[in-house]
Amino acid sequence: MFKIQTLNKIDPDGLRLFPLNNYEIASEIPNPDAIVLRSFKMHDMELPSSLKAVARAGAGVNNIPVEKCTEKGIVVFNTPGANANGVKELVIAGLLLSSRDIIDGAAWVKTLADKGDEIPASIEQGKKNFGGQEIKGKTLAVIGLGAIGVLVANAAQTLGMNVIGYDPYMKVQQALKLSNQVTWVEGIQPILAQADYVTLNIPLTPETEGYINKEKFNMMKDGVRLLNFARGGLVNRSDLKEAIAAGKVSRYVTDFPNEETLNMDKVIAIPHLGASTKESETNCAVMAVNQLKDFIEDGNIKNS
Ligand code: MLT
Repeated sequence: MFKIQTLNKIDPDGLRLFPLNNYEIASEIPNPDAIVLRSFKMHDMELPSSLKAVARAGAGVNNIPVEKCTEKGIVVFNTPGANANGVKELVIAGLLLSSRDIIDGAAWVKTLADKGDEIPASIEQGKKNFGGQEIKGKTLAVIGLGAIGVLVANAAQTLGMNVIGYDPYMKVQQALKLSNQVTWVEGIQPILAQADYVTLNIPLTPETEGYINKEKFNMMKDGVRLLNFARGGLVNRSDLKEAIAAGKVSRYVTDFPNEETLNMDKVIAIPHLGASTKESETNCAVMAVNQLKDFIEDGNIKNS
């Protein structure tokens, strides 16, 4: 029997691909052959000597001690692209949330609950309190043109935005093949200088930790709207707080709340829901389970 430890809830449509006559699957299991997880942070965990593989049902691997695993000969899998549509849809929601007073307007309407007949007059008042701008014709800078960045770029373009792209890890020719909707910009300074909206779609690595800092905020337009559905650690927290307080950033919409900016009016934060859709959870679980089965049963290492 192969033993699989699940460190997070994994979609059952994926888990059922493990034939139960050959596999034992549990959240607590001695001497596991493999671990499958989502956002559980493995850095402080002692790696069992029986462990041969770790599979993340998700794209980012910053919660896995990849170097330590590699040193011990433990193979690490992830599922690039499997949840890209789910994350893309939330980034597009973020664009709209950063542009219109949807959250504040909806919260204000709830306060009318006890107003009875006065509700129509109050709604008229509400129209005066809230507003917004349209995204059509505005410039969106997509930082990172991996699976998610490309989908975001294409979708934003269909909504009438001018999309410009930059990727710290990609060469121009490579990037141009990925999306014909993006105008490639060489260098971070010119891309940030042109953007009304910036979306971060790069992975968190030791090199990208704090990537958006005071220096980068200074390159941005006043009143820029910043979307971070990639990882909280990409943005330097105290520099962000300062940039919001100074009006440099007029909205920060993120899937990664942090205690320093949580209560600021201009911040809309949700609890890492980018891939929390049935479709993304199933796609990631199916891909992760197939990778593990291929590896355990046939020794194949395929990361997609
Ligand atoms: C990812 O890394 O794939 C996304 O952030 C979604 C997730 O972590 O579940």
